[in-house]
Amino acid sequence: MSTSAQDPKSSESITPVRWGVLGASNFALKVSLPSMWRGPLTQLAALASRDIGKARAAAESLGIPKAYGSYDELLDDPEIEAVYIPLPNHLHVKWSARAARAGKHVLCEKPIALSAKDAAALVDVQHETGKRIAEAFMVRYHPQWQQARDWVRSGRIGELVSVQAAFSYFNRDATNIRNREQVGGGALYDIGCYAVNTSRLLFGREPVRAMVLVERDPEFGTDRLTSGLLDYGGAHLTFTCSTQAVAYQRVNALGTKGRIEIEIPFNAPADRPCKIFLDDGSTLNCSSAKVTSFPVVDQYHLQSEAFSRAIRTGSPIENSIEVAVGNMRVIDALFRSAESRRWEKI
Ligand SMILES: NC(=O)c1ccc[n+]([C@@H]2O[C@H](COP(=O)([O-])OP(=O)(O)OC[C@H]3O[C@@H](n4cnc5c(N)ncnc54)[C@H](OP(=O)(O)O)[C@@H]3O)[C@@H](O)[C@H]2O)c1
Repeated sequence: MSTSAQDPKSSESITPVRWGVLGASNFALKVSLPSMWRGPLTQLAALASRDIGKARAAAESLGIPKAYGSYDELLDDPEIEAVYIPLPNHLHVKWSARAARAGKHVLCEKPIALSAKDAAALVDVQHETGKRIAEAFMVRYHPQWQQARDWVRSGRIGELVSVQAAFSYFNRDATNIRNREQVGGGALYDIGCYAVNTSRLLFGREPVRAMVLVERDPEFGTDRLTSGLLDYGGAHLTFTCSTQAVAYQRVNALGTKGRIEIEIPFNAPADRPCKIFLDDGSTLNCSSAKVTSFPVVDQYHLQSEAFSRAIRTGSPIENSIEVAVGNMRVIDALFRSAESRRWEKI
C-alpha cells in the first residue's frame, strides 16, 4: 500500500509502517489488532502462527493479507518493518531479540520480560540493531493518564504522597497462560505490573524499596493474590492484584491538598467516555469531587500509531525499553520480598 497520512503534529506526510504479528493470540485477535488496524500510520501486513491453518483463519478474519506457519518465516519477510508480539510472557525476550536482529522494530506485550536482567539484554539488542523496542503499556497513551500526570506535576493536589491501586479478575482456567507458572503466569506479571508502571508515571521517579505479600494457587503455583508496598522516599504505592477475585480496577492518588481518582484506569473502554475525579476533600462522601470526562479514544490504537510515527520520525515514545527495565527491577524486588519476607532494595 502506498498511501500516506498526515501527521497531526506536523504537516509532514508519513508513509504507513508495515507490521507483522507473531501468534494468533486471543487478546490480539479480539482487542489489539482491530484497534491497530484503524491506522492510518499502521498497516497490518502479515500474521504468523505455529499452525498455518490458524494463521490463515486469523489473517482472513482481520483482513490481513499474508499468513505464515512459523514466526521465523514472518521475520524473513523483507516487507515487514515492525512486529507486534502478543506471545506468552516467557517468550517475549527471545522473540523481541530475534525480531530486532531480523531488522524489525518491536512492540512487545507486557511484561516485556520475566526479570530486569532479561529486559536489560533488550537494551543491548536495541543498541546493536538500531531498531526500536517498546513494551505495550497502552495506558500511558490514554488522555486520562496524561491528565492525571499533568495535574500531579502542576501541583493540583499539592504534593503526591500515596497511590493506591487495585486490579483483579476471576479466572481459574488451568489452560490459560495466566494460570501457567512455566510461561510467566500469575497476577503480578499480568496485572500488578500496571500498578508499578503507572505509579512510576505519577511520581516521576523510581521507588527505592519494595515489600510484598503473595498467596499462591496450590494447583497452578502462580501468585493469585499479591499485595505490595513501594517506598518512593516519603511517599508510597500500595496495591492489590488478583487473578481470583471479583473483577475490579481503580486508582486513587492522594496529595497533600487533593485527590485524583481514575475510575477505569487500565482497561479503559474504546467505545465509551472515561471519567476521572479531582477532589479537594472538603466532603468525605466525594460530593466535592469534580468530574472530567474524556471523549471516546482507543488506547491500543493511540499506542500503535505513536510507535509507527516514532519509527518514521524518531519521535520519543512513552513505553521505551528503558522504562520497561525500570518496571522489571521493581517486579524483581517484589518477588524477592515474597521469598525473604523483608524489604528489598530496588
Ligand atoms: N495490554 C493488554 O491490555 C493485554 C491484555 C491481554 C493480554 N496481554 C498480553 O498479551 C499476551 C498474550 O495474551 P493472550 O491472553 O492473548 O494469550 P493467548 O491467547 O494464550 O495467546 C498467546 C499466543 O502465543 C502463541 N504461543 C506460542 N508459544 C506458546 C506456548 N508455549 N503456549 C501458549 N501459546 C503459545 C499462540 O499462538 P499460535 O498458536 O498462533 O502460535 C497463542 O495463541 C500476554 O503477554 C499478555 O500479558 C496484554
